[in-house]
Amino acid sequence: MTIQHFLTLKDLPVVDIRGIVERAIELKNDPNLAANVSRKTLGLVFEKSSTRTRAAFEVAMTQMGGSSMFLKSSDSQLGRGEPIEDTSRVLSRLVDCIALRTDKHSKLENFAEHSRVPVINALTDEFHPCQLLADMQTFIEKRGDISGRSVAWIGDGNNVCQSYINAAEVFNFELRISCPKGFEPNKNLLSNNAKRVYLNSDPISAVRGTDLVVTDVWASMGQETEQKERASAFKNYQVTSELMSYANQYALFMHCLPAHRGEEVSCDVIDAHDSVVWDEAENRMHSQKALLELLI
Ligand code: CP
Ligand code: NVA
Repeated sequence: MTIQHFLTLKDLPVVDIRGIVERAIELKNDPNLAANVSRKTLGLVFEKSSTRTRAAFEVAMTQMGGSSMFLKSSDSQLGRGEPIEDTSRVLSRLVDCIALRTDKHSKLENFAEHSRVPVINALTDEFHPCQLLADMQTFIEKRGDISGRSVAWIGDGNNVCQSYINAAEVFNFELRISCPKGFEPNKNLLSNNAKRVYLNSDPISAVRGTDLVVTDVWASMGQETEQKERASAFKNYQVTSELMSYANQYALFMHCLPAHRGEEVSCDVIDAHDSVVWDEAENRMHSQKALLELLI
């Protein structure tokens, strides 16, 4: 029997991904509808820091009557060099689903290959699909269907940006990515999605007429030593209220958080009424609940 993993948004049929988002909206309106997963355990194996992803998974499991077990790599034998395959073999005999946050995406794939239970990508250097479930839920709740709309990504072509590229295909929207030279997303991912995804180094023309403007930190986890060099490369890519003024009148602002105010986003934008970052953060829980219902 093949095990259904969720390593990127492309791992499930389009209808299932859209279904997760619809279900998340339903569960938010009536949490009593959620499946009962009593006696089920979600393993959370994190090699990087987290606030939202971890909290959202733990609360989701508690509300559904199950439990979760958090393992930080540095406190487990993983941090002392136990092969990730062995960790996967052992944990997957004990729990019903595992969410892994790690660096290389290939490490996650390797973990999934050796797992007896579904594995969820809780963020890798290349993708952050759980974030996109929440972002799509948030847009749809606030503005209706995202199909046929325009989205601008301003800043680094990072893991969240690359999941936006996958989401553009699944949810059928146009994505305009504006990043400095040398910080573009993966070339193959771009060329495979050339029908809907465009690169535009000028943030103003990327944002013009869009319904959603999204950004993320300039230096992701693991890139701390590049912070200074990146701050200089990205200085013209801050989302300011002036930049937002080129978007459509009812355009939303999103950021996966944590945010660095005064770097990738100005204070007045992230704290403005069309910023939906707190809804996005809350929706991590509702959408991950819907994902767990499907996988467990
Ligand atoms: N957005 C997000 O994944 O946040 P955490 O790193 O806090 O989990
Ligand atoms: N791009 C960021 C996202 C954090 C949720 C990082 O990888 O650090």
